[in-house]
Amino acid sequence: MRRPLRIAQIGHPVLRTPTRTLTREELKTDEMQDFLDDLVETMREANGAGLAANQVYQSLRICAVEVRENSRYPYRPNIPLTILVNPVLTPVGDAMFTNYEGCLSVPDLRGQVRRHCEVDVQAWDRNGKAISTVVKGMTAATYQHEVDHLDGKLYLDRIEDPTSIVTLENFQRYHMNKVAEDVAALIERYGS
Ligand code: NI
Repeated sequence: MRRPLRIAQIGHPVLRTPTRTLTREELKTDEMQDFLDDLVETMREANGAGLAANQVYQSLRICAVEVRENSRYPYRPNIPLTILVNPVLTPVGDAMFTNYEGCLSVPDLRGQVRRHCEVDVQAWDRNGKAISTVVKGMTAATYQHEVDHLDGKLYLDRIEDPTSIVTLENFQRYHMNKVAEDVAALIERYGS
């Protein structure tokens, strides 16, 4: 069991600094492989749907995503554990949807942002092997949220309607039922 790392909170410059890409040589070091284990452990410990390296103070173009029966997001479809190294996302088509998001670096809030329904993903896995795929629906939104982190952006930057910003408690109380319906429709359409 690896040790969970501290998570940077909004206002810390590391969250606003675009991360740097890695070489395959760097990626293969024991130090970097240990860091990847720590990143995953920290994401799981904090119940995150994803975690970017700069959220744990490492300004590297790496993120992890995973959703498994997540209590912070009970309505969300599962996403298998995926580590993306040097990811580049490209929207596929023009379709977008409104997603209610939260972030481990933005405590206690949720808000609505627009996300592309489908994105092409080019990246490496933790061993430097090429990943080339298209992700859709909620999985696509999660990937976009994490890669935004790697570019120094937070979901709050993309809020179109500030009145959608709510506390987690009020999200669960007043908005989650409707969001769960919208997400179910999205899953119906995109399978994820
Ligand atoms: Ni986040």
